[in-house]
Amino acid sequence: MNTPAMMSGFGNEFATEAVPGALPEGQNSPQRHPLGLYAEQVSGTPFTVPRREARRTWLYRLRPSAAHPAYRRIDNGALGAPLAEPTPNRLRWDPLAMPDGEADFVAGLFTLAAAADAPGSGVSVHLYRANRPMRRVFWNADGELLVVPQEGRLAFATELGRLAVAPGEIAVIPRGIRFRVDLPDGKARGYVCENHGAVLRLPDLGPIGANGLANPRDFRAPVAWFEQRDEPTELVQKYHGALWATTLGHSPLDVVAWHGNLAPYTYDLARFMAINTVSFDHCDPSIFTVLTAPTDTPGTANLDFVIFPPRWSVAEHSFRPPWFHRNVMNEFMGLVHGAYDGKRGGFLPGGASLHPMMSAHGPDAAVTEAAMAVELAPQKIGNTLAFMFETRALLRPTLQALGLPELQPEYDAVWNGLDRRFTGGSA
Ligand SMILES: [Fe+2]
Repeated sequence: MNTPAMMSGFGNEFATEAVPGALPEGQNSPQRHPLGLYAEQVSGTPFTVPRREARRTWLYRLRPSAAHPAYRRIDNGALGAPLAEPTPNRLRWDPLAMPDGEADFVAGLFTLAAAADAPGSGVSVHLYRANRPMRRVFWNADGELLVVPQEGRLAFATELGRLAVAPGEIAVIPRGIRFRVDLPDGKARGYVCENHGAVLRLPDLGPIGANGLANPRDFRAPVAWFEQRDEPTELVQKYHGALWATTLGHSPLDVVAWHGNLAPYTYDLARFMAINTVSFDHCDPSIFTVLTAPTDTPGTANLDFVIFPPRWSVAEHSFRPPWFHRNVMNEFMGLVHGAYDGKRGGFLPGGASLHPMMSAHGPDAAVTEAAMAVELAPQKIGNTLAFMFETRALLRPTLQALGLPELQPEYDAVWNGLDRRFTGGSA
């Protein structure tokens, strides 16, 4: 009955049971479940969206989620802090230090930037720094979580099963799905993009054809797994930016079987088939889109997750670094490991940059000078894994992000020295 732990295509149905007979045959909600489980549907999209958009899963669990005491407001820590005034300035941060005290995955979340859009659109960008496994369970009512580990592995125990990711991989946890995070390496650090809009999916491929970029078969979904733990368990939710907690008498990770197409998943970014020019010039960075969350305006994403993976650079008679540009979208960038080919220094693994809409940016002066002078030959850009959360939403830094000692005060100076080279006559 178990399907392979593989995403054979977004929108496909999975069916998986941890105990034989736990998955009802032929209907979703029998009058009495043969094993005494409760049936519960979790909907990640409105009921009436077009079928190709619909995400929902039926859960068969020890107790229904509805049986819980009232939630009480708890401290947010550094999650979702007040936003600063929108700034047109380019910002860059060094990696944040690990927390002084103990922090689990939730306590270690630090909101760096967010859009103040209405619920149902926009993104929030967080960094996480954790040094203690979660002893509580978390879920997010405000959006799905795209987790990009930078240091240390994460072991997710979710309602729908277990998933593990290491730096170089990503995990996506749907809105509403309960999970706990353990730290196999004792500590972990990375990035989270909270997508408040339509769920992430694979981009269309257009003239690329049926293969390439991220291939559906490489996405991994969990198989059913559950725990029977009848002891007090704190359940924390994020609701409209605020953290709320309740205490259950049992673990909420008690789903014995499930079927549907709303599920957490992981993806190894090393499996991304990078496509780019084999003649001259550049494709736009959208050619490196792994996942996209569309809006009602075609091609104008609430979130594009774009990577800059190891690849060959072969363009002839071209300026090869990422070009100078200004963009109607907002760009948040991070670096998992290695060096980004647009910057000679200062953009460190675990660091971050924010280039707001229409801000001018591009390679720093050192990279530019070198790229203009170098003799072009095929070059392997090897040790690198940068990524971008690109959004049409106006990203505003948080006040706490602007107050960080890791904020680089002289970021603008990386473009110093790009002096006039024009040697022509006057007009
Ligand atoms: Fe850019």
